[in-house]
Amino acid sequence: MIYSEIIGFGHYLPKKILKNNDLTKIVDTSDEWIYSRTGIKQRHIVNKSELTSDLAIKAAEDAFTQSNTDPSEIDCIIVATTTPDNTFPSTATKVQNYFSIKNIPSFDLQAVCSGFIYSLQVADSFIKSKKSKKIIVIGAETLSKIVDWKDRRTCVLFGDGAGSVILSSTKIKTGVMSTKLYSDGSWHKSLFADGGPSLNQKVGKIRMDGQDVFKQAVNKLSEATEMALSDCGLNISDIDWLVPHQANQRIIKSTAKKLGIESDKTISTVENHANTSAASIPLALSSSLKTGKIKKNDILALCAIGGGLTWGSCILKV
Ligand code: ACO
Repeated sequence: MIYSEIIGFGHYLPKKILKNNDLTKIVDTSDEWIYSRTGIKQRHIVNKSELTSDLAIKAAEDAFTQSNTDPSEIDCIIVATTTPDNTFPSTATKVQNYFSIKNIPSFDLQAVCSGFIYSLQVADSFIKSKKSKKIIVIGAETLSKIVDWKDRRTCVLFGDGAGSVILSSTKIKTGVMSTKLYSDGSWHKSLFADGGPSLNQKVGKIRMDGQDVFKQAVNKLSEATEMALSDCGLNISDIDWLVPHQANQRIIKSTAKKLGIESDKTISTVENHANTSAASIPLALSSSLKTGKIKKNDILALCAIGGGLTWGSCILKV
């Protein structure tokens, strides 16, 4: 049996920080409203010339350095993103070109906030089917570029950043233990960008019915996590850390409660990073591994939900 072991991790956050109080100069809001409803205090924001590929490359460089991996060892690149540099080609090919890794598959995966979990399943399948031996999966977003900065209901929620993991083929039972992916397109109108190449030849801005998403999120995240646990014969008590998509502290807290996992076993970075969509889980993972909060051999339950709706979960031994 072949498994996909996590041998490296990294992340990158843009230098500029936008605090809640800075937002009060842009829209009619307050630090108290944002913090009490979402748990967010600040978000990192790119400057105009900084692209998603720049963040992805820096997060990849960090993982290469952390794991002492030479980029030439990588035989597949997957970038989970909703904010690619161009309509085409993929942001992943820009990463591939930067590191001069010739003749390997590289592609973007679009599943909005669930993109990183979807990418983990794809990477794990490539490794298990012996198509690849060492894959870098990157979640990278510049959501600030598709936020409507006049809409206080959404602009306070999002941030920019990138996180990455390197998966490597091994015969030791570790790494990706199980994944579960789902989608339901009937929720399209609850969370979408009102633009696209085919629709109106525009990029579009984020539109969201916050309460619809909130109600769906807690049930779907907890159900998906329970399904992934049962798939690999584990119980919630076997989990060292719940690493949920970092959308909102209230969603994180309610999901943990529904699953019956203590809040001190839950990773939360939403206060400092806000919602970075596909980058949120690898960012939370990498920053918690670097501080030593998450340790080698810990068993994690990752779960995410995003536009589509798409959602999913992954049980991961790091
Ligand atoms: N500042 C001040 N007031 C605001 C703001 C703001 N930034 N945004 C909305 N309000 C006002 C509204 O206009 C409304 O005022 P009204 O009663 O006079 O009409 C009032 O606050 C309440 O608005 P609601 O939308 O009912 O607020 P709610 O308690 O539902 O909180 C929130 C909104 C935080 C978006 C919540 O619904 C939520 O967390 N939803 C989850 C959505 C989410 O996290 N999406 C991220 C993308 S999806 C994903 O990643 C899973």
